[in-house]
Amino acid sequence: MGEDENILEELDDIQKNGLEALASVQDEAGLQAWRTAHLGRSAPVMLAFTRLGQISKEMRPMVGQKANQVKLALEAALKTRAEAVKTASLRQKLDTERLDVTLPGRRPTMGRLHPAAQALSEIIHIFEEMGFQEYRSPEVETDELNFELLNIPAYHPARDMWDTFHTTVPGTILRTHTSPGQIRAMREMCPKPIRVILPGMVYRYEQTNASHEMQFNQVELLAVGKNITLGDLKGTIEGFAQRMFGEAVRVRMRPSYFPFTEPSADIVMECFVCGSKGCPVCKYSGWLEIAGCGMLHPVVLRNGGYDPAVYSGFAAGLGPERIALLKYQVDDIRNFWQNDIRFLEQF
Ligand code: DAH
Repeated sequence: MGEDENILEELDDIQKNGLEALASVQDEAGLQAWRTAHLGRSAPVMLAFTRLGQISKEMRPMVGQKANQVKLALEAALKTRAEAVKTASLRQKLDTERLDVTLPGRRPTMGRLHPAAQALSEIIHIFEEMGFQEYRSPEVETDELNFELLNIPAYHPARDMWDTFHTTVPGTILRTHTSPGQIRAMREMCPKPIRVILPGMVYRYEQTNASHEMQFNQVELLAVGKNITLGDLKGTIEGFAQRMFGEAVRVRMRPSYFPFTEPSADIVMECFVCGSKGCPVCKYSGWLEIAGCGMLHPVVLRNGGYDPAVYSGFAAGLGPERIALLKYQVDDIRNFWQNDIRFLEQF
């Protein structure tokens, strides 16, 4: 009988010891260890259950009940303690990992438009105000459109003016100028009058130097209609130059040659660096070349679907990087596509 009563006291102690031990548990690992020691298979309260068989019949229900109570009490205490440990560790995390809003932020570097893109959009904007519509044509082009239909047959020495990148597909090249877009626009819009600009990248297999790159942008200008004259071309170009460089700028047309225009001209602008006195930028000529232009050759008009006896038109090809070069006084055109951030950040 003494043995049986002792076990009740023992169970009280088991509970008391368990609760005491639990009070000093501070973290997840401690909780695990406590669970094994106090509720695991060989924990004192669990062993009490296995001893029930040796207890007298009268006492057995009481001891069993008691053991159950102790087990439940320990389990409940564990649950409460586990919650407390979790809350405490969260609070500690929040305290130590708090966002310090008094720290000055790191300013992100702001992107901006590439200087060539800036010049391009300024040029496009000016021509749009003058009534020209933007028309895009492909950079990978056929030999036929890039040359043949622009009145440059395969044997023609004028082909030397455009050193060409060829592709592995015969007859398919990277366009050397935006002029093939003239044929595309005419064929699409014929017989309606046309006022379009064709901006985009062109490619030439060239030795690069301060004023020549393998890739650069062009803006092609095309007007087709009845009674379009050289005067219209000159007025359009002058109007453009004045908006781009200021009212006082002087431009002139210098006779030139292009197979797709007749007559043809280069557009030259007075050198703003030296005021036309002569300097390294204008190679001491006082004038800077910004575009080629001319009246559409009858062959080109016909290839576009327009009868040259009824229609006439003008075209021009401008180099936005050249224009940016002049506007920002950059001394080497290769800077534009070298991706040197120190250069690009200046614009
Ligand atoms: N396509 C010529 C070139 O890249 C430039 C040019 C000259 C375009 C005269 C024209 C033009 O439309 O009329 O060299």
